[in-house]
Amino acid sequence: MSKFASLLALLAIVPSLAYAQAPVYGQCGGIGWSGATTCVSGSVCTKQNDYYSQCLPGAASSAPTSPPTTSAPSSTPVSTPPTGTTTGGSAPSSTPAAGNPFVGVTPFLSPYYAAEVAAAADAITDSTLKAKAASVAKIPTFTWLDSVAKVPDLGTYLADASALQKSSGQPQVVQIVVYDLPDRDCAAKASNGEFSIADGGQAKYYDYIDQIVAQIKKFPDVRVIAVIEPDSLANLVTNLNVQKCANAQTTYKACVTYALNQLASVGVYQYMDAGHAGWLGWPANIQPAAQLFADMFKSANSSKFVRGLATNVANYNALSAASPDPITQGDPNYDELHYINALGPMLAQQGFPAQFVVDQGRSGQQNLRQQWGDWCNIKGAGFGTRPTTNTGSSLIDAIVWVKPGGESDGTSNSSSPRFDSTCSLSDATQPAPEAGTWFQTYFETLVSKANPPL
Ligand code: BGC
Repeated sequence: MSKFASLLALLAIVPSLAYAQAPVYGQCGGIGWSGATTCVSGSVCTKQNDYYSQCLPGAASSAPTSPPTTSAPSSTPVSTPPTGTTTGGSAPSSTPAAGNPFVGVTPFLSPYYAAEVAAAADAITDSTLKAKAASVAKIPTFTWLDSVAKVPDLGTYLADASALQKSSGQPQVVQIVVYDLPDRDCAAKASNGEFSIADGGQAKYYDYIDQIVAQIKKFPDVRVIAVIEPDSLANLVTNLNVQKCANAQTTYKACVTYALNQLASVGVYQYMDAGHAGWLGWPANIQPAAQLFADMFKSANSSKFVRGLATNVANYNALSAASPDPITQGDPNYDELHYINALGPMLAQQGFPAQFVVDQGRSGQQNLRQQWGDWCNIKGAGFGTRPTTNTGSSLIDAIVWVKPGGESDGTSNSSSPRFDSTCSLSDATQPAPEAGTWFQTYFETLVSKANPPL
């Protein structure tokens, strides 16, 4: 072979060895990492921990850990895990199952929610209502890890789910919401969280994710499905005029990217929160939304564990409205199905073959709101369609109950630091307790107005 020919032969194999540069917020190193180890210009590969280095905008000094160090990319490339089909929850967690992750698994019932519901039913005197209320304990909802202190509960649930699937032969899935971003709920107040960007919140968030990952690693036999950070990315699409959101933009993206990558590394099937039809479904918002979600998917190296998007979380929209609620006027995507059917192809076109889950936990009654943007403890709401994989849409993996119905959306007490005026609007049930705490009268309405009835 001539020198020239051997050079050509060498060049021919180079592309299979070289990797493209990682995108901003993408992974660029860490133990076991075999992808790109350099970053696109304008970002620097920054070590977050031994397992994860990330391309952060600008200089390495923007990293949250102190002091940031430039990553030493893994020198021992490993092959990417093979894709293939698996059954139930018994797959090794590094191998994504083909198809819908809700199929073949039974949702583990949160003991916390079951206890809330049991106590609520006990407090009801009307025997018919009491029986209906008690039956809600058997309907699966998601567990919100809304503070670091709740993470150990996940370990308990995984252990219980693992034992249950061994004794029953029924593979279980534990459903969680990852919800602890620094400067959380940047455009509202009711769900402001425990971390602030100004006080090292990004590093604290990474530690929160690491703690979740550590729990999940202990139970590789149990499937986990997660909704990622309700409202956060949607706020970056429409609320950058709010100073707190503008200030949080870089941190939110870095934190969500970290969550996506770390949770994918332990086999968690994830759906990023995508607001709802009345938020990102408007013609002016849907394209920028698709762009952002596709970028986030790519920052997770297009992992199959980033399965898609969650819509209508803790909201009240119908999946398929019998007729458009008058408040939706001007938005062609007047229900979740229209929104998903519009957004799905835009995402696919950008390389994100997203599937969806839709919260219908409190969507049983329609045409309740004064304005579509109202979200706080809406009067007259009823429990909605039960969780199912029988969704009627090939884009929708499951109808789910993400918001545990009966937990408040926000306090109506105007002297609370987390008081949001939305919770004192005329269509908000009052008086209401703090977000996430039990709201008995609201629960009783959800039960009595359930559609289909309980
Ligand atoms: C609250 C969380 C709570 C969740 C589910 C959110 O609005 O901020 O604390 O866990 O709702 O009820």
